[in-house]
Parts: sequence; C-alpha cells; structure tokens
Amino acid sequence: PATGPLAGRHALVTAGPTHEPIDPVRYLANRSSGRQGYEIAESLAALGARVTLVSGPVDLPPLTGVTLRRVETARQMLAACRDALPCDIAVCAAAVADWRVAGEATSKIKKTAGAPPPTLTLVPNPDILTELSTPGPNRPALVVGFAAETDTVAQHAAAKRQRKGCDWIVANDVRPETGIMGGMENEIILITGDGAEQWPRMDKQDVAAHLADRIATFFTPDFSS
Ligand code: C5P
Repeated sequence: PATGPLAGRHALVTAGPTHEPIDPVRYLANRSSGRQGYEIAESLAALGARVTLVSGPVDLPPLTGVTLRRVETARQMLAACRDALPCDIAVCAAAVADWRVAGEATSKIKKTAGAPPPTLTLVPNPDILTELSTPGPNRPALVVGFAAETDTVAQHAAAKRQRKGCDWIVANDVRPETGIMGGMENEIILITGDGAEQWPRMDKQDVAAHLADRIATFFTPDFSS
C-alpha cells in the first residue's frame, strides 16, 4: 500500500492541450506541452496519492504508478474527469480549448479552385474546472485551477478563482518572452483564500513538488517535507 502524507487520497489531474476537430484530418489546438500537469501527477503520486491523469494529446511518456486516461477533445476530457470521480484533489492543469468548431465535418473539407475559404463557426466548450468546483456531494475537498495570463497576472487570477469557484489558482505569465508555455521552467503566483504568493522562477518539476507539498499540508497540516 502507498505511504506518504497523501496515502488514501485520490487525485485527478488534467494536463495538455485539447484537439478540437475541424474535419477528420484538421484540428484546432494550442501550445501546451502537458509538462506541468505530468510533473504534478508524478509529485502527488510520490506523496502517496492514487492519481488519475486525464491527458490531452502530448509527446510525454506515461508515468509509472499513475492511471492515464488519454483524450483528444474537451468533451472527452470532461467525460473522463466525471468517470474518475470521486476524488479528494483535482488539479486542472490542462489548456482546454475554449471553443470547438460547430458542426465538425465528417469528411475532409475540399479546397475548390476559385471558391472562397470555409468559415469556421466556434461554440464554447464545457468548463471542466467550473464543473469540478461546483458544490455537491462529489466536489473534491481541494480544487486547483491554473490561469495563464499575459498581463496583471495576480488580479486576473484572483478574479478567475472567484468566477470558477475553485480553491486555489496557480497563475503564470505566458507572454511569449517568458518562454513558459511549452518550456521547462515556470514562475507562478499561488492564489489561495489567504492571498497571493509569488514563487521564484524554477523548473516545472520543482513547481510541481512544491505544489504537492502544499496540497499535502492542506490535508495534513503538520506535514512538512
Ligand atoms: O478560463 P481559463 O481557460 O483561463 O481558465 C484556466 C483554468 O480553467 C485551467 O485550470 C484550465 O484547466 C481550466 N479550464 C477547464 N475547462 C475549460 C477551460 C479551462 O477546466 N473549458
């Protein structure tokens, strides 16, 4: 049996981008690598949690000791998260596409000489973090969201915490010059009910380890690594 401060706890982690089909060969996506979410899953498992990792399409190998559910679209990600409940901890690190293409074509859209290019109509995707944060019998004791922002990071993230109903927000600055999105390092502000904490820039692996420690302390206040 698992040992560690999170033994007996079930953690759900979402990671990676989602792919939203346009037709059978094309899709909309984003630059998320999945790295931060995978590191968090690994760190939570290292502290004894049973971890379900719901992952969009990424280039990362599966993690030993972590249950992997691979999905492509936001709707599949939501379904896999619902299937994983109940859990004690949910960490939504996935960069879920905000929109999908309405009426995905079932055969490849043809390019016809002289014809105008197709117009894509987008419709909103379900918000997984908001659904997991909604009060109810299955609500995890601790729900952590991410906020990728490019300006006034802390204010936007605090507002997002309220809007989504989650407990904590891990906010990061994804302006291209930071190299964070798709990169190895991260610099975060952790927003909890008690306020905002700026963490120094560190490897995503170290962000994950520190976050997992904070999560362990939430459940076992006298735990410290
Ligand atoms: O609204 P925004 O995308 O900026 O919020 C980011 C947070 O919400 C992340 O934790 C992300 O995983 C989560 N999210 C989600 N489902 C969506 C959109 C975002 O779970 N459809």
